[in-house]
Amino acid sequence: MTTGKPEPYYITTPIYYVNDIPHLGHTYTTVACDVLARFKRLDGYDVKFLTGTDEHGLKVHQAAAKAGIDPQSFTDKVSQNFRALTDLMNYSNDDFIRTTEPRHIKAAQALWKKLEEAGDIYLDTYSGWYAVRDEAYYGEDELTETPDGQKIAPSGAACEWVEEESYFFRLSAWEERLLAFYENNPGFIQPDVRRNEVVSFVKSGLRDLSISRTNFDWGVPVPGNDKHVMYVWIDALTNYLTALGYPDTDAPDFKSFWPADLHMVGKDILRFHAVYWPAFLMAAGLEPPKRIFAHGWWTIEGQKMSKSLGNVIAPHDLVDRYGLDQTRYFLLREVPFGNDGNFSHAHALQRVNSELANGLGNLMQRTLSMIHKNCDQKMPEPQDLAPEDQALLAVAQDTMLQRIRKHLDAQKFHLAIEEIVKLTNDANAYIDTQAPWKLKKENPARMGTVLYVLAEVTRCLALAMQPFTPDSAARMLDQLGVADEKRALSCLCAAEALRPGTPIAAPEGIFPRLVVAEETKQEAAG
Ligand code: MSP
Repeated sequence: MTTGKPEPYYITTPIYYVNDIPHLGHTYTTVACDVLARFKRLDGYDVKFLTGTDEHGLKVHQAAAKAGIDPQSFTDKVSQNFRALTDLMNYSNDDFIRTTEPRHIKAAQALWKKLEEAGDIYLDTYSGWYAVRDEAYYGEDELTETPDGQKIAPSGAACEWVEEESYFFRLSAWEERLLAFYENNPGFIQPDVRRNEVVSFVKSGLRDLSISRTNFDWGVPVPGNDKHVMYVWIDALTNYLTALGYPDTDAPDFKSFWPADLHMVGKDILRFHAVYWPAFLMAAGLEPPKRIFAHGWWTIEGQKMSKSLGNVIAPHDLVDRYGLDQTRYFLLREVPFGNDGNFSHAHALQRVNSELANGLGNLMQRTLSMIHKNCDQKMPEPQDLAPEDQALLAVAQDTMLQRIRKHLDAQKFHLAIEEIVKLTNDANAYIDTQAPWKLKKENPARMGTVLYVLAEVTRCLALAMQPFTPDSAARMLDQLGVADEKRALSCLCAAEALRPGTPIAAPEGIFPRLVVAEETKQEAAG
C-alpha cells in the first residue's frame, strides 16, 4: 500500500445461536474469517474482526425453558461456550458481541426507528408458516407435507402456523432496487452459483416481511410498542453495526469500517444477508456491505451432521486428535471454499501427514539440521546463484505472495494453500536433486549456497503460513532467527532475506507425524 494510513478491513462471522453446542460447522466459518483477518493485518491493513452470539428469538427461548432457567441466565451461561472457542481455536477477533448487551439493544432500536421514519414499516396481521429451527417464515408454496400432515420447510425444519399482530417491513418495494444493486455490484454475492440463486429468488417476487412477534417476549422490544419484540433476524443482523458504535454514525469505528468488507456466512443463511439486510440498510440510508460470501456445508463421513445421528464433531475433538494448527489447516485445505465438503478422519490424517509432516515439517527439519551440523550452527553465506536457485527464490520472495493475495481476496483458501504446498514440494525436490549431503566433501561452498536457498525458501513459507497455522509458523520463524518485527508480509521479499551468520540451533520438529489409528487405516482402505 502506498498511503501512510492503513486501509480499513472489516470482516464478520455470523453470530451463533447459543442453544447449540459449538461444532465443526461453526468453527469452519470463524477459522475462515480468522485467516483473512490475520492475512490482512500482516498485509498492512487496519483490521476489525467481529464474532459473537445470537441470543434472542423463540429457539433460544425454548431452549432456556427446556433447561429450566430464565433466558438471560441461560444465554449468559451458554454464550461462554462460543467465547471459549477464541482460545481453543486461536481466533484473533477484536470484539465478541452478544445481542443481549445494552449497546446492541440500543442499536437495534435505532435502526428500527430509521426504518419507521422512512415509511418502510407498517402494522398488520401475519398469518403464515414459521420454522422455529430456522427462525424463518415460509410461503405455502415452498413447503412439503409429511404423511401425518406436518409442513416441512426446504431446509427440513418443521413449520408451525402463526397468526398474530405484526409489524411488516415493505420488502416488496425493494425488489427493483435490490436487483439494480446486484447488477451494479457483481462481487456482492459470492460464489456465482449463490448469486444466481439470490437473483432468481428476488426476481420471482418479494413479499413484505413480518418483523415483530407478540406471542413471546424474549427479544428487543419494538420502540413505542413493547407488546412486540423484534423478529430475531432484524435484531441479529444489526450486530454488524452495533460493534462499530451505531447509532453514532460519527463514531470513529463506524466512520472507518462501515460498509463492511466481508460478511462470511453459510449458504443456509444467505437470503437473510443478501436480500433482507441490504434492503434494511438502504431503507435506513446506510450503505450495504461490500461482499457476502456463502460457504458450503460439511457432512461427516458422508452423512449430515446431527445430534440424532450422534456424529456431531466438537472442535476440541479435532484439536485433541490432530493439533490446533493442523485442524485449522485441514478445514480450509480440504474443500474448495464455497463447495460442500465431506469430513473424513482418513483424509484429515492423510493431509496432515503428507503436507504438514512430510512436506513442510520435513523441509524445515532437513534444512536446519544440515545447517546446524555442517555450517558451524549458523546460516551459511551463499555464493553465486545457479538458475535453479534463482527460480526457487523468485517464487518464494515474489510470486507466491501475489498469488496468495489474489486467491484470498476471492476467498479461495484452498488455492492459496496450494501455492504454499507447491513451493514446499519444489523445495523438497530441490533438496533431492541438489543432494547437499553429497556436496559436503565435493563442494562445500555450493553446499552452503543450497542450504541458504532452502532456509530462505523456508522463511518465506513460514511467513505465508502465519494466517493459517499461526503458532507453528511462529515457531518456524523463531528457529530461523526471524525477529518479530520482520514477520509482516512486506518482508516476503529479497531485501529482507535471511542474514548469513544468523545462529541456528538444532531444530525442533514443527509438525509431528501422526500415528494412524487402526480404524482410520481401515476407513482409508475401504
Ligand atoms: N444466528 C444465525 C446467524 C445470524 S447472523 C446475523 C445462525 N446461527 S447458527 O449458529 O445456526 O449458524 C451459524 C453458522 O454456522 C452458519 O453460517 C452456518 O452455515 C454454519 N454451519 C452450521 N452447520 C454447518 C455445517 N454442517 N457445515 C458448515 N457450516 C455450518 O444461523
